[in-house]
Amino acid sequence: MTIVQTTRLQPDLAYTPQIAAEMAPLYEKVRSVIAPMEWPIYAPLIRAINQLKKERGAVILAHNYQTPEIFHGVADIVGDSLQLAREAGKADANIIVQCGVHFMAETSKLLNPEKTVLIPDLGAGCSLAESITPADVRALRRQYPGVPVVTYVNTSAAVKAECDICCTSSNAVKVVESLGSERVILVPDEFLAQNVNAMTDVEVIAFSGRCEVHERFSAKEIRDYRTGFDGLKVIAHPECPPEVLAEADFAGSTAGMIAWVKEHQPEKVMMVTECSMSDNVAVENPNVEFIRPCNLCPHMKKISLQNILDALLFDQHEVLIDPQIAAPARRAVERMMAVR
Ligand code: 13P
Ligand code: SF4
Repeated sequence: MTIVQTTRLQPDLAYTPQIAAEMAPLYEKVRSVIAPMEWPIYAPLIRAINQLKKERGAVILAHNYQTPEIFHGVADIVGDSLQLAREAGKADANIIVQCGVHFMAETSKLLNPEKTVLIPDLGAGCSLAESITPADVRALRRQYPGVPVVTYVNTSAAVKAECDICCTSSNAVKVVESLGSERVILVPDEFLAQNVNAMTDVEVIAFSGRCEVHERFSAKEIRDYRTGFDGLKVIAHPECPPEVLAEADFAGSTAGMIAWVKEHQPEKVMMVTECSMSDNVAVENPNVEFIRPCNLCPHMKKISLQNILDALLFDQHEVLIDPQIAAPARRAVERMMAVR
């Protein structure tokens, strides 16, 4: 399909006194995580994006790892992978701009085949999604005949198309148990599979993929932080190695971690996950001190206010999925959505 480039006018991005006044309430909210010298650049972009998305009937979905100016400034819906997939399915808009990584935009497209789904940077990938191919799944099926294959949502649509059902970090145990099988294969995240295996009687067979952000955390690092910060609570994402989860007070999806902080209001907390999460959550939890080991996801960080504006101005970059792949991939995602 050819995308026709439109001639929408580039908005004026000057930081005028009028824009400063109009955007002041938002800056008040985010001032603890956005430096004053950055605001004159962000404020006009945020204003222009919010105007343009209204004019164009677009909705902006942002993952919890997006930077605070995106998360708090322009997103209509924020969440973890499961929440974003559910909300994408309900989106009352012609255009979805996905501020996250490519597999998330593909999931939105699978659930909204008739809508335009845009990702501001096509290079926003994921080390897990890149670790496995459809041929790898077929090889696993040959190695373990009859064993159902669960795919973590962090995979391409082509890989999902080869699998029986999808899962995310917030429903992996439920999905694995829903299959009524003594053994399941869970691809591609080796650590997620090991962590799920520890939480269920189902035998979970792992593949060898890893998240380049979460694999870097170690049990020793967690213990060192605990020594340095008295009374520290540690909450971790299940893409971390099992030895890290063993040191944590809680483990859950990004949304699960946010809910935990909101509910428990710890004096000091360390979120063992991608760096921007702490910034985003700190804005809404001013009484909690966040200790921040800063592992950035280079893929998530490819999304910026400037390329979100360009996405809305020039309809770029449209995410399309071959219909032959989309049908079985959608089945795997919809099957997951039906698990409660
Ligand atoms: P969540 O579904 O928990 O948001 O995780 C997505 C992800 O990519 C974590 O690295
Ligand atoms: Fe992929 Fe890891 Fe980045 Fe999440 S944090 S998008 S799993 S590379």
